[in-house]
Amino acid sequence: MINIERLMSRLEELSKIGKTEDGGVTRFSFTKEEAEANALVARYMEEAGLTVEYDAVGNLIGSREGEEGLPVILLGSHIDTVPNGGKFDGPVGVLSAIEVLQALNEEGVSLRHPVKVISFKDEEGSRFGFGMIGSRAVAGTLAMEDLERTDERGVSILQAMEEAGFPLDAAKLQTAKMDKVKAYLEVHIEQGKVLERNNVGVGNVTGIAGPVWLKMKVVGEAEHAGATPMGQRKDALVAASMIIQEVEKIARMHPPAVATVGKIAVSPNGVNVIPGEVEWTIDIRSTDEKRRDEVERAIVAFAERTAEERDMRLEISELQRVPPVGCDERIQTLIQESIAEIGSETVSLPSGAGHDGMQFKDRIPIGMIFVRSIDGISHNPRELSLAEDIEKGAEVLYRTLLKLDRE
Ligand code: GLV
Ligand code: MN
Ligand code: MN
Ligand code: MN
Repeated sequence: MINIERLMSRLEELSKIGKTEDGGVTRFSFTKEEAEANALVARYMEEAGLTVEYDAVGNLIGSREGEEGLPVILLGSHIDTVPNGGKFDGPVGVLSAIEVLQALNEEGVSLRHPVKVISFKDEEGSRFGFGMIGSRAVAGTLAMEDLERTDERGVSILQAMEEAGFPLDAAKLQTAKMDKVKAYLEVHIEQGKVLERNNVGVGNVTGIAGPVWLKMKVVGEAEHAGATPMGQRKDALVAASMIIQEVEKIARMHPPAVATVGKIAVSPNGVNVIPGEVEWTIDIRSTDEKRRDEVERAIVAFAERTAEERDMRLEISELQRVPPVGCDERIQTLIQESIAEIGSETVSLPSGAGHDGMQFKDRIPIGMIFVRSIDGISHNPRELSLAEDIEKGAEVLYRTLLKLDRE
C-alpha cells in the first residue's frame, strides 16, 4: 500500500530546503525557507489528489472529501525545525499522512469521513520562543495577544505573519479554529531510545509530557575586569551559572521531570568586561504536571535567593506553559491492533518531546505513532530513522485511519 520510495524521496527533497553546512536543517516560521518548503509540500498534497489551502495563520492544509455531515479526521505534523535540526522531526509525519492518502486514492478506497492533512505552523517555537502556533489556532486557543511576542530582531509574530502574506485580525483568527473533528493522528519520530531498546520499528504513544518555558534574566553591574576587585563585583554570569547548575540538580531529584537551559545571552559579552546582564531560557517538562511544577518552584526559589544574596535584580517571564496530555484510549487500542497486524510487537511509551496534538487536550481525541530513532538522537543533524521503520509508521497510520473511519 505505502510507496516508501516516494515517501523517502520526498523527505530527501524537502530536507534540501534550509540545509545547513553540516547536513542539518534550519527552517524557522514565516521565513523564505519555510515558504519554499510549504510550496513543495503543497505540490505533494496535490499529487496525492488533495485540495490545498492555507488557513488564516498559514497552516498548510490538504483536504479529501467524505460523507456530508461527518466530522473530519485530522492527520498532521510540522515542517519547521529547531536551529540546525534534523530532517525527520516533523516532515516524517506530514509526508506519511500525504502518502497514506495518496495510496488510498490510488487504490480507489473511499472513506466515510473527510480527512485533512495539516502541516502546522511553527511547532518548535524556535523563532519566537512560543511553539505550536498553528495547532493553537486550530484548537481555538491562540489569542491576538500571543502574537505580540517577538523574535531576536524584535519582529512580532503578527508582523512576521503579515510579511509572509498572512495578515491577521481577531475575526480572521477565529476562522482557523476547526470544529467537528473526530480525531487527530500523528506519526512522529520517537526522539528517544525506547523503541530501539525494545527492538521494534514503531510504537504507540500513551501521552505527551508538558513543557514550561521560562526566561530568566539577572542584572548585575558591567564594569572593568581589571580594575574592579573581586569583592566589589556584581557579576551576572557567576550568579546565572550558579542557578543553571541548580536547574540540573533539582531536575535530577524529581524524575521523570527534565529541565534544560538551552539558550543564553551574556551582555555586553566582552573579554575584559564583567558581565552586567545574563538572560537564559529554562525548558522544564514532565508527564506528571505536579512534578514539573515542583521543579519550577524549586528553581525559581533558588534563583530568587541567589539574586538576593548577591544584591542583583532577577526578572522571570513565562514563555509558554502547556499541560501534559494523554492519548485517547480507544485510538491507542486501534494503533496497537494496527501494529500487531503488520507483525510487530506492540510497545507503548510516553513522549518526552512536545507535539501539536497537545493543543487539542479536552477538545479532540488524539493518537500518536512513533517511529524508531537511531541512537535516540534528535534536534541534531545526525537525527536518523530508517526507511523500513518509516514505512511501518505510515502503514500503521493507514490501518488506524481505516479503523477509525469505520467507527
Ligand atoms: C519540540 O520539539 C519540543 O518538544 O520542544
Ligand atoms: Mn516535532
Ligand atoms: Mn522538535
Ligand atoms: Mn516537538
